[in-house]
Amino acid sequence: MLQGRNFLSIEEFTSDEINQIFALAIKLKDLTKREIKHRLLEGKTIAMIFQKPSNRTRLSFEVGISQLGASAITVRNDEIQMGGREPIQDVARTISRYVDGVVIRANSHKDIEQFAKFASVPVINGLSDESHPCQAMADLLTIYEHKKALRGKKLVYIGDGNNVCYSLVQLANILGLKTVVSCPKGYEPLNWNVEGICKTEIVYDPIEAAHEADVIYTDVWTSMGQEEEREKRLREFSNYTIDNKIMKSAKTDAIFMHCLPAHRGEEVSGEVFESGQSVVFDQAENRLHAQKAILALVIEGAIVF
Ligand code: CP
Ligand code: NVA
Repeated sequence: MLQGRNFLSIEEFTSDEINQIFALAIKLKDLTKREIKHRLLEGKTIAMIFQKPSNRTRLSFEVGISQLGASAITVRNDEIQMGGREPIQDVARTISRYVDGVVIRANSHKDIEQFAKFASVPVINGLSDESHPCQAMADLLTIYEHKKALRGKKLVYIGDGNNVCYSLVQLANILGLKTVVSCPKGYEPLNWNVEGICKTEIVYDPIEAAHEADVIYTDVWTSMGQEEEREKRLREFSNYTIDNKIMKSAKTDAIFMHCLPAHRGEEVSGEVFESGQSVVFDQAENRLHAQKAILALVIEGAIVF
């Protein structure tokens, strides 16, 4: 039963619950493509708060909410000033009186948890410094579509063990993929050595890590909020650009993935980004379908198929 639940972190969900979300995402994607209405959240309202910039998250949620028959209200943090003009717990309790669910992109994961503790409607994490669970759902859906299976596939993440990497590895573990992370020492994902949270094999050499991979994944080396570390990171990650040499170490039918936005010439070469192996815009599209399923399952009073 997912109704009334928050969607903050992958580790809060069982594989059955994750599969329930995937099943609905696949169904809603099919209905969307066939232009069949599926207004499962008719009359509901979802608020979205963004403390950081966004293209995909904001647009895919807004479009998805509209396709589900609900309304979206997006507020930027300079308007609401969560934690400044008003304490987080008061913002959460106020907004909960108006809307049926809240999507938050926040600087600090702890702030999202604090918000969720005081909110009386479901809260969805639209990215924090720690995790990006909606992205991971879209990514695993994309892998499933391209590879026709998940269990046993080798997923290799090369780059910074950041928020995107953390949720991706967690979800891949739940779904039975083999995960390998390749990064400079000191940039491993959170809890990478803790069984049941984000355990993954770490292979520091990217060519060795990519060997026989089904999926090669990367993200920016400098995430939002880390801008002052950019020069240092450019130096420390310089051996980790996904180029043709790394792609050749993977299986010949391997796919290349990136959550976007991408920096060509840094974490990925322009050639790999634009190659036939790149499925980055399928990932971007699947944000829409995966998030619609999450919303339709967690928001109370949704029409159930
Ligand atoms: N991948 C992703 O979350 O993109 P935005 O930052 O543009 O929302
Ligand atoms: N790791 C990146 C992801 C952006 C979608 C960031 O946090 O900026």
